Order: sequence, then C-alpha cells, then structure tokens
Amino acid sequence: MNSVLVASNRGPVSFTVSDDGVLTMKRGGGGLVSGLSGVAKDEGVLWVCAALSDGDRSAVRQAPGGRLDQAGYETGAVRMLDIPPTTFHRAYNAVANSTLWFVNHLLYDTPNAPLFGTRFQREWESYRDYNGAFAMALAEEAGHGARVMVQDYHLTLTPAMLRAERPDLRIAHFSHTPWAPPEYFSLLPDEVAREVLEGILGADHAGFLAERWASAFMDCCATLLGADISGNNVTYEGRTTQIGVHALGVDGDELWARACEPDVESHVTALRAQVGDRRLIVRIDRTELSKNIVRGLVAYREFLAAHPEWHGRVVHLAFAYPSRHDLPEYREYTAAVQRCAKEIEDEYATEDWDPLILNVDDDYPRSLAAYRLADVLLVNPIRDGMNLVAKEGPVLSERCALVLSREAGAAAELGEHALVVNPYDVSETAEALHQALVMPEDERRRRRTALRAAATALPPQRWMAAQLDALGTP
Ligand code: G6P
Repeated sequence: MNSVLVASNRGPVSFTVSDDGVLTMKRGGGGLVSGLSGVAKDEGVLWVCAALSDGDRSAVRQAPGGRLDQAGYETGAVRMLDIPPTTFHRAYNAVANSTLWFVNHLLYDTPNAPLFGTRFQREWESYRDYNGAFAMALAEEAGHGARVMVQDYHLTLTPAMLRAERPDLRIAHFSHTPWAPPEYFSLLPDEVAREVLEGILGADHAGFLAERWASAFMDCCATLLGADISGNNVTYEGRTTQIGVHALGVDGDELWARACEPDVESHVTALRAQVGDRRLIVRIDRTELSKNIVRGLVAYREFLAAHPEWHGRVVHLAFAYPSRHDLPEYREYTAAVQRCAKEIEDEYATEDWDPLILNVDDDYPRSLAAYRLADVLLVNPIRDGMNLVAKEGPVLSERCALVLSREAGAAAELGEHALVVNPYDVSETAEALHQALVMPEDERRRRRTALRAAATALPPQRWMAAQLDALGTP
C-alpha cells in the first residue's frame, strides 16, 4: 500500500492515439505538474489523476486497475481514472474552469454572468461525482495512516469525502490559485459555496501560495460558515484545519541547465538575428483571461505613443500559447489579443522595424530563449495564484527588469525588487515599461540578483517536503 498519495486533475503524462490505435505518451505540462513531478517518482508515492482525452482513456483501459506503471510505462506509480467523458467535461470545463476559476480570479462580467440555474445544478452533480471518484480511488490505494496531497480547485470536495471513508488518513489540500474575498465568493449558490469550503476543511492542512489567498479563504470560512478562526487554524464542527502558506518557487539550477541546451541556443541565435540589437520587452503566458494580455498590449501602445524616442529601438515579444480552447471565452480572448496586436502593427510598423512579435503557439525552448534575451519582463495579471514566469525570468536573464502586477501572488516576495503596477492602469504600466528600459545598469543587476534569490527560495522539492512535514510523520 502507498504511504504518500498525490491527487490532481492533470497527471504527469498524457497520451495521444493515432488512427491505427497506436498510443504515444508525452509529459504533462504546466506549473502544477512540474512542481509535483520531482517527488512523484519516490518510493511509496502514488499519483492519482484523471484521463483527460481519448488517448488517455485508451491507455487506462489497457492498464491493469488504471495503473500506467503496471502497463509498462515509465511514469512512476500512476493511477489514471477513467471518468465518463460527460461527467469529466462538466466537472472540468463547466465547474472547475468556468466557475471556480472565474470566482477565484474575479473574472466575471457580472451584468451577464454567472447565471446559476438547472443546468448548473447538473454540472455541479457531475463535479461531485468526479470528486467522489478521486476520493474512492484514494481510499482504495492509501495505506493505513498515509499522507494524501489533494491539488487545486478541481478537487475541493475530495478531502471531506475521503475523510468520511478513511478517517485514519492525514489529508492536505493545496490551492494553486488565488482565493476570492467573501463578497465575491458568495456569488456562488449558497449550498455550493458551503460545500467547497467544507470540502477543503475536510483536510488537516490547507495550503495556499500567498498570505493574501490564505486570509481570503479564512475570511470566507468565518463569514459563510461561521467557522472559528484562531491564528492559522480554522475550527468548524469540532475539527481544526491548519492553514499554511507555501510560496512555490523555481529550481534555478535545473532551469538554467535546460535553458543552455542546443535547442534553446538556436532560438537565442534566431531571435537575436530577428531583432538585432534592439531592446526587448518580453511576456510569456498561457492565453488566459486572468493574464491580462490585452491590457498589456494597450500599455505597450501607450508607451510607444508617449515615447517616440523608442521607435525603432525596442521590440515587444509577446508569447501567448494556447489554453482551454474548449471554452468560448478563451477562443474570443485569443482573437482579441490578435486584433490588438494587429492594430499596433498597423499603427507603428515600418519597413525595417517590427514593434511587436506575437506568437500564439506553444514552443518551450523558444520561451526560454526569450527569457534569456529580455531587457524587461512584463507580468501584469488581473489576479494570479503565484505566477512562475515572474520567477523564471530573473533566473534566466542577466539584466531583465521586472514589471509586475500587484495582484500576482509573486508580488509578495518579488514586489520590493520589481516595478509594481496596478494591472488595470495601462498608463501606469506604460510608464513602468519606460522606467524599466531606462533603469541604470547597476540598479538592474542589483534588483535582478535579489529577484533571483527570492525566486529560487522554495524550489518544488522543498515546497512539497514542507507540506508533507506539515502533515506530520506517519
Ligand atoms: C494553471 C494554474 C493551476 C491549474 C492549471 C490547470 O497552471 O495555476 O492552478 O491547476 O493551470 O491547467 P489545465 O491546463 O490542466 O487546465
């Protein structure tokens, strides 16, 4: 039986299936997965995740008990759950990504959304079923007294469901997102808001990326459940959950080693050839509503209008790789980013100067190359749990100045050494871009050294170990 279990929607690998039925495995992407991958291969650790695609489902069906490792894949111990596609779609797209993500990032256009009717009730049922499937699998696989680490807004109900099945376990939940303040969280139907909070309070330890999100969660527990808050403890219906802040950082050595590989070097050479010796303002994001890419581009346009002295001398590299294209809001957002980029091109491009290079496809080595060349890194989310881009940039660039939204979790650690902006204020952001470009060399190096130290303070391995420690030794 397993002594440590990790549960997350997305697992460490995914599969594609070709027309003739051949399966190809690739590593899963995203910050959450890379944060967890380090520990997942340790002895006694089992990772439970969902099948996300048809390829994943074929792989699971051929694996004994859904155990990919027992089907011969080199994944570490992984059990992938074959949740019925309709249930999965409602839980993942309709509830997790279109509701809980929107609430915690304050993304609603409230005159029009959200709207909770009978359709949502069905979707919520599916979310319960999906969380229940995780709870059952964990209950089956966990050894007596095992420690279970449940991840993120996809799985808020699992801790309480699991505790009901297996009171012997030590359970942690970790939120990789921000948390909404009570007046916004209570947009959710009352029963749903309660279930989410009670679900997480089924854990012994509830972790967050920043103090702000931990406090907002505790405020919701006090306001909506009447829970008792004392220091970092939330007591509700006779049980106490400890709240912890674990500010995930990056593994600087590993990232640097990856960024020196030949595929990255050739992108460095190609980008340099493309932009010459012009200064580079870089941004790298998923095309995600919370990342505020459109306002970032509008700020760049204001900067060009206010500072003609930079015309021909600066290029904005905006990498916005695809995300959640099953949701119409995301497809429309990608189109809005492209429209805004085109307007900038039309207004400012000349025969020999391209003021903006927008890429909307995914190319990790090219992103690493862009970090290495950046003079300015723009990270301006509306709201973000942490934002690892703000931490990766200073590790890879010798001289980049960071323009950082005060609404990113990373601002708590990096804000002192960054140029901090209100993400809604594009004029302020435009001026910060200018300040970042003209920052004297010794100041930018001094700030960059401090940013690098803060960014690498809690690399994934230690981040995970701290949460396991918080659950105590079995
Ligand atoms: C980002 C968020 C995580 C979330 C993940 C889901 O990385 O910070 O909180 O779990 O996205 O992404 P996915 O592509 O799996 O929907």
